[in-house]
Amino acid sequence: MTTPPADVAHPRPIRSFVTRAGRTTSAQARALAELGPRHVLPYDPSTTDLVAACACKESAGGHIYSKTVLEIGFGMGHATAHIAALMPGTLFIGCEVHEPGVGALLKSMGEQRLHNLRIVQHDAVEVLRHMMAPASLHGVHIFFPDPWHKKRHHKRRLIQPPFVRLLAERLAPSGYLHCATDWQPYAEQMLAVLSAEPLLANTADGYAPRPGYRPETKFERRGLALGHGVWDLVFRRTDQSALPVAT
Ligand SMILES: C[S@@+](CC[C@H](N)C(=O)[O-])C[C@H]1O[C@@H](n2cnc3c(N)ncnc32)[C@H](O)[C@@H]1O
Repeated sequence: MTTPPADVAHPRPIRSFVTRAGRTTSAQARALAELGPRHVLPYDPSTTDLVAACACKESAGGHIYSKTVLEIGFGMGHATAHIAALMPGTLFIGCEVHEPGVGALLKSMGEQRLHNLRIVQHDAVEVLRHMMAPASLHGVHIFFPDPWHKKRHHKRRLIQPPFVRLLAERLAPSGYLHCATDWQPYAEQMLAVLSAEPLLANTADGYAPRPGYRPETKFERRGLALGHGVWDLVFRRTDQSALPVAT
């Protein structure tokens, strides 16, 4: 590991994404303008319990959601919209940094008249660390996170012990963490890291069958047809509470 120079007060954090240039279509731009003000929440670390803040706002508007699920890196939001439509009583908060993806999900929300979805267009690691209170989430979805194939990029992978500890602490008792990947070495890393986290327990003996709510993606169907695998992992929060809480 390289040590940062002494005169650098805050060395640049290693991020799990690079900001990509991507064209926002006119339909996505329209969705951003029309639905963004209601459904996109600002990144604001002074809100330390986003779930409670959403609950207050929603109950004022007559909606009460019994559960909140966070999705990290929703891409174009296909799975997000599908699952939100299946579970109208759950509030979904999606984090994604790529603007065309945010526009695409807002467009689906408009078309499907989905109300139970909020978006934060920001690094999910910071959102989770600063805006989510401990034990506030019923579930976390991380579907096909960037696999960062090259060895020198493995440090960018999301599923690493410190982040998994943070995820586990943000889960309510018996809350779940569902990850999926089509890259076997990353699946193996996920299984090792999640299994080693004492705040989590595997719901399966190794990899889990795909839960019915997660739709098969187009690219997953193509991969499966070519004989490539997909691995789901579903872990639950254990009730150990004596461990120190990461901030
Ligand atoms: C390989 S894509 C998968 C997208 C989607 N989940 C799917 O299954 O099609 C990973 C996505 O995660 C997003 N992402 C990566 N790290 C992120 C982070 N720290 N916060 C928010 N989004 C992130 C990327 O912008 C990208 O859109």
